[in-house]
Amino acid sequence: MDTKIWDFRNIDAHLPNNEEMQEIKTIYEEGGLIALPTETVYGLGGNAKDDKAVKAIYEAKGRPSDNPLIVHIHSMKQLDNFTENISAATLTLMRYFWPGPISFIVPLKAGYLCEHVSGGLASIAVRMPSHSVGRYILQQVDLPIAAPSANLSGRPSPTLFEHVYQDLNGRVDGIINGDQSEEGLESTVLDCTVFPFKIARPGSVTKQMIETIIPNSVEAYADFDSDKPIAPGMKYKHYAPDTPLTIIRNFNKVPTKLNDWNHTAFIVPENKKDLVPKAATFISLCADSEDLKEANHNLYSILHRLDNDANISQAYIYGFDDTEASHAYMNRLMKAANQQEKEGDEL
Ligand code: TXA
Ligand code: MG
Repeated sequence: MDTKIWDFRNIDAHLPNNEEMQEIKTIYEEGGLIALPTETVYGLGGNAKDDKAVKAIYEAKGRPSDNPLIVHIHSMKQLDNFTENISAATLTLMRYFWPGPISFIVPLKAGYLCEHVSGGLASIAVRMPSHSVGRYILQQVDLPIAAPSANLSGRPSPTLFEHVYQDLNGRVDGIINGDQSEEGLESTVLDCTVFPFKIARPGSVTKQMIETIIPNSVEAYADFDSDKPIAPGMKYKHYAPDTPLTIIRNFNKVPTKLNDWNHTAFIVPENKKDLVPKAATFISLCADSEDLKEANHNLYSILHRLDNDANISQAYIYGFDDTEASHAYMNRLMKAANQQEKEGDEL
């Protein structure tokens, strides 16, 4: 299959022309797949009403079909078509956080979307992205767009056009280049079919941020690694690079143990650069050890880079102290590192 590429990196200066937009709209309407940028990660988009499109998404990603997709919208009016009985508290949160990096699981109204989107569940996850390109496309196309992260199953989520191209060129109808995703980690998924709400996947919108809007509305975190997580996607094996990866906690001194550091990468904040052994490769995670936003933004592109660098045979990556704000980063990192951790003074 030929994959068409659109370069919309400069959308604030130049809107796509009518011909380009019509082409994109027609592909979605006819059940084709186009990957599009969002502020979290790139999504592999298809018309959520179209059986053919939804089946093609699962196929292109190699994804198990019991793992439901998030439906992306541009306006809350679209919700009336395929959801029902959304609580007043949920609507309040939607109005506050959307457009933005949080998905809400709400009761599904049957009959409008293709059945496979929700993997047979009675609920549906919805999100309104804020990315200028992603949002513009959703507005122009005006369809509910199902979009999982635009990676092959088992690979890291894509935060750059190049990552999507590497995984999906030849497997989808098109890819829209909209620059690097600002957030860098997938959205928070909040289960609003129960009250108190439950966080099914941690993201940059935290329990604390939600409870600032509605006090005491979020139950303690679900156990993400249990056999029965709320979000079916959390039970599947997640991406770990081929290069063995170890989390390094409390990295406060230069390693003293004798070691051949030649093929080792240290992925740490720039203010820890002086602690990295001279023979090792320093990879900047963020400017300083407080800068979680930047660490989230960079994480997946660094993981992509590890697998593409033949010179690196093992890597240590900086672990933040466990706080509400570091929850999403550490959740992804524990999976990528297969739970391997070390204290700084063990090195
Ligand atoms: O940031 C994001 O959310 C990105 C961008 C593209 O929007 N999308 C994304 O989609 O990460 P995906 O399919 O890779 O992850 C969706 C997660 C999965 O863990 C899935 O199991 C869960 O949301 N999920 C979706 N619908 C659900 C439902 N009705 N009940 C429980 N979990 C659901
Ligand atoms: Mg994914």
